[in-house]
Amino acid sequence: MPKLLAIISLAALLALVPSIHAQLNTLAVAAGKKYFGTATDNPELTDGPYVAQLGNKADFNQLTPDVTEPSRGVFAFSGGDAIVAQAKKNGQLVRGHNCVWHNQLPSWVSSGGFNNATLLSIVQTHCSTLVGHYRGQIRDWDVLNEIFNDDGSFRQSIFFTTTGTAYISAALRAARAADPAAKLYINDFNIEGTGPKSTAMVNLVRSLKTREFPSTESAFKPTSLSFAALGVEVAITELDIRMTLPATPALLAQQQRDYQTVAAACRAVPGCVGITLWDWTDKYSWVPGTFAVEPGQEASL
Ligand SMILES: *[C@@H]1O[C@H](CO)[C@@H](O)[C@H](O)[C@H]1NC(C)=O
Repeated sequence: MPKLLAIISLAALLALVPSIHAQLNTLAVAAGKKYFGTATDNPELTDGPYVAQLGNKADFNQLTPDVTEPSRGVFAFSGGDAIVAQAKKNGQLVRGHNCVWHNQLPSWVSSGGFNNATLLSIVQTHCSTLVGHYRGQIRDWDVLNEIFNDDGSFRQSIFFTTTGTAYISAALRAARAADPAAKLYINDFNIEGTGPKSTAMVNLVRSLKTREFPSTESAFKPTSLSFAALGVEVAITELDIRMTLPATPALLAQQQRDYQTVAAACRAVPGCVGITLWDWTDKYSWVPGTFAVEPGQEASL
């Protein structure tokens, strides 16, 4: 008996090991998810220890690069290609980010003075070229990024003020045609809870599904997240949790609970396929550069 007990407790101890060393992707897959992933960026790919951890599939089985069209008809694929190659080397999934975004928009688009028809054709060309370039290599595409205001109205981007909502289906249709197998996402922040913005997103997805992208059946058995209840896939795509410095033990403990809350929310919803950190180390976080005003915000990862 004592010997058997000893064996059992050793087994119990070994079973704990994966949770001691995070192994985020291993645990996500064990919970029925498709991946746990991270964003990355090209300058970081010269950092050996960083790249080694980026390729650690026990933690990350999905990478998110950026791709762009710096002038009309000229596409800058080399940065995206390098990250797709990095993912491929390790057999990791890739999430494309993104086709249409009002921010970091080249001035040839924002100041081009294009009319409705021309801007729609620019959106179509951009989405079909990007998605087509990576056809078969990218599982998920953020086709539309941050198209709502927090009050649920459509953001007054150059796309909306010129085309109305026509650019939304134009972008989605172009992406769908360019890679029929890719999952097409409408990506946004502040929609993880309930409120006017998430309601607006649910309504948009419902209307797109009804009018333009009828799907026969959903494989998911959704429970609570209202997006998943529409029978569409959902994912946590850009996760980080910043804090106002100094990073006290209490704040870090709260941050740990908050990360656990997000992971538990995705875990509880069968339609939620995965979680992607917005990079995995504070060394390369976007937060200090963007929220550096006193008191600085940091320690998000
Ligand atoms: C832009 O053109 C599309 C396609 O013809 C049309 O559906 C949409 O209503 C137009 N938008 C505006 C603001 O005129």
